[in-house]
Amino acid sequence: MAVEKKDEQESESSEQVVNPWEVSGKIDYDRLIDKFGCQRLDVSMIDRVQRLTSRQPHVFLRRGVFFAHRDFNEILDAYERGDKFYLYTGRGPSSEALHLGHLIPFMFTKYLQEAFKVPLVIQLTDDEKCIWKNISVKESKRLARENAKDIIACGFDVTKTFIFSDFDYVGGAFYENMVKVGKCVTLNKSTGIFGFSGQDCIAKIGFPPVQAAPSFPSSFPHLFPGMNNLRCLIPCAIDQDPYFRMTRDVAPRLGYRKPALIESSFFPDLQGENGKMSASNPNSAIYVTDSAEDIKYKIKKRAFSGGQDSSKKQEGVGANLEVDVSFKYLSFFLEDDAELEQIFQEYKEGSMLTGAVKARLAEVLTEIVERHRRARAAVTDEMVDAFMTVRPLPRMFE
Ligand code: TRP
Repeated sequence: MAVEKKDEQESESSEQVVNPWEVSGKIDYDRLIDKFGCQRLDVSMIDRVQRLTSRQPHVFLRRGVFFAHRDFNEILDAYERGDKFYLYTGRGPSSEALHLGHLIPFMFTKYLQEAFKVPLVIQLTDDEKCIWKNISVKESKRLARENAKDIIACGFDVTKTFIFSDFDYVGGAFYENMVKVGKCVTLNKSTGIFGFSGQDCIAKIGFPPVQAAPSFPSSFPHLFPGMNNLRCLIPCAIDQDPYFRMTRDVAPRLGYRKPALIESSFFPDLQGENGKMSASNPNSAIYVTDSAEDIKYKIKKRAFSGGQDSSKKQEGVGANLEVDVSFKYLSFFLEDDAELEQIFQEYKEGSMLTGAVKARLAEVLTEIVERHRRARAAVTDEMVDAFMTVRPLPRMFE
């Protein structure tokens, strides 16, 4: 299944490339679902989430930001019968400057943790970033701790959440699972899944079992002793799918359950060019450290507009919302469904101008970024230690 390799060839004609290390081109999500073999999340499942949790589904579910899954229905079936599960997500700490797109999986995971009242493990793959980027072990570990502060600032519950860095935690039962996984995957197979070549260092080839191991409860004996059948749900962006395709493939051979997945689309680039917001291009990203002025300026100057060149023309023809980045961002972050619908109608028909849409977006994003900044400033080193200590979580299902 040389999916990613094929993508590399296609990239020359600016086709989509989606793998854990590169996302570019215009993304066709229907095609991606077909290619990866996951399922589309449908309205009936979202209604079910609402019924089971007795709360309005998160805006990222209502608006289709999380749009694909594997076996999420089984998680819901089990939950309905009274069986709990645990959540697993992660981050590769490659930069200090987090942008809005980085917060999306964590905002969503926090909602899942609260709504379903379940424990959560968060893997900081400092090893992965040290291997793929030109970053030293020491620097990767420092970035992991810095990123942990941003993650904690999203509001996770310390009585239900274990955050770990691979460099610190890998060993013991976790390592046993890595080796078991690794024994099931040949080099040919992993080359097919990940597109590795003979030029890649063997650290890369050895990495996928590290990301697979947290999908199995036995990797966390301090959390889930004797609970080897506990289900795992992984919220992630769809570029992480290859890791978990491999994980699901090997699980039955190890006598383990396959983890379930709920997968998001990418947060688009401000300029509307690439597949997703990139941390390395300040023109294309809004960082969680940006000031209100920065945000206003970037949106005004950089956000690709589907509106017409002149207000006269806009009033006559209306905007092309398919390509309008400001509207897309509002659909991620403006929680009020009625207001979004009103903007949709007025902007599309032409009675609302791009400037007004951008001004509203700047307000919405500034509020989110400022809330995050305040929360992050309140995160102390002691709090990071508390989340990262290897410890039981006795009240994790309450
Ligand atoms: N590989 C991911 C990244 O580079 C980090 C990660 C590890 C992750 N485990 C995960 C992401 C589980 C989502 C779910 O960001």
